[in-house]
Amino acid sequence: MHITVVGIGYVGLITAVGLAILGHTVHGVDIDAQKIADLLNGHCPLYEKNVQKKINYLYAKKLLHFGTHYRRNDRIFFLTVGTPASQDGTIDLTPLYAAIDSLIAFVPNGALFLIKSTVPVGTSRKIVHYLKEKNVCHAVISNPEFLREGNALYDFLNPDRIVIGADNIHCTAILTKLYQPLLNKKIPFLLTDPTTAELIKQASNAFLANKIALLNELSDLCVQTKADLGALSLGIGLDKRIGEAYLKGGPGFGGSCLPKDIRSLNRSFHQYGIASHILPAVIAANNYRFAYIVNRITAILGGIKNKIIALYGLTFKADTDDTRGSPSLSIIELLLAQKAIIHGYDPKTKYDLLTYNEKGSIKFFNNPEETLCEAEALIIATEWDIFQNIDFEKIKTKGMLKSNIIIDLRNILNKDLLQQKGFSYYCLGRDI
Ligand code: UDX
Repeated sequence: MHITVVGIGYVGLITAVGLAILGHTVHGVDIDAQKIADLLNGHCPLYEKNVQKKINYLYAKKLLHFGTHYRRNDRIFFLTVGTPASQDGTIDLTPLYAAIDSLIAFVPNGALFLIKSTVPVGTSRKIVHYLKEKNVCHAVISNPEFLREGNALYDFLNPDRIVIGADNIHCTAILTKLYQPLLNKKIPFLLTDPTTAELIKQASNAFLANKIALLNELSDLCVQTKADLGALSLGIGLDKRIGEAYLKGGPGFGGSCLPKDIRSLNRSFHQYGIASHILPAVIAANNYRFAYIVNRITAILGGIKNKIIALYGLTFKADTDDTRGSPSLSIIELLLAQKAIIHGYDPKTKYDLLTYNEKGSIKFFNNPEETLCEAEALIIATEWDIFQNIDFEKIKTKGMLKSNIIIDLRNILNKDLLQQKGFSYYCLGRDI
């Protein structure tokens, strides 16, 4: 099938690559000519395992194309443009409507618009009205994505479910054909209306955020009671009704989706004149984590003013170069506000995109060991494998870390080993 993907951001690029892997001929369109030029020159705009290799392969096979214009004969359009949010959860749908306007100006009646951008509940039906007002007739289908950055291509090809929200039953035959290779793998195909499909997406992220927020709160009780956070997660997660995923303690959930979706869902409650009591509590609980962690760091170091603190991991989690909504950055801001001096390191972030100069003293390093220079403490903020393989023996013998304090916000290091080597090791659920 010939498919166009409109908006080559994170979701758009993975969707385009995924659909091409399923055997379709995919045309990725973006208004950003520089991004398209970079892609055509072999530069993937984001870090995601295996994606560059796949792009090169699919491009050579002529299954994947990129450009700034639509193709005359295409009728199936995935809309994957960004839907930015303000702090109160209001979603800016301007980019989505701009994409729709550009499509209806070009495509004859009878096309399929598949909305993959995450939108507030009720948006697809509003788009249907909008098209009617414009006197054009296209099918609008909600087909939310459930892609985790870092595992996005895997998630596209191995989803837990495919959700299709369509009012027009005739579209489902086309969609069944489109996703046939996945349906052959017996992946559940949930057919519902567009409003429910939109709600499934945001409610799923709200559930995940709930799990993480509750576990992080329970970790505080572990500190007070000396209960074991790791065993607690496992013990809860082994209950099949709960499940093991999303029960890892951390500095709070972040990223471009969970915080945004939970705020947007909360706003939808307001807009429909009802109140959510749970969503605001989860948002507040997560925001509280950052200040709580900084207080603990301050207490451990006996004050942080003018002290150098090394921090590994600037992205919102491991295996990505994405710093949007990163808990590390919220924590850094609070540390800088108390006049700490930050030495930051990340295996993938493009430091030049981070603007901190006016906020305080922060310096980025390209080498984990240099980052430690004169630092009082090392904070581990993301769970990259390479942080687990750091040569702490060398750090200790060469005296690279001034006070030998390690604060592990992901509980990924070996406490016994570090203590044996003479480090003061602090971790979540025990000391933080
Ligand atoms: C999320 C959803 O998982 C995905 O389905 C959706 O489509 C997009 O949003 P992503 O933003 O890539 O994906 O991140 P995810 O892996 O879900 O993690 C979100 C945040 O929760 C991260 O900050 C992560 O570190 C944190 N987290 C996750 C925990 O603190 N503990 C956990 O056990 C899991």
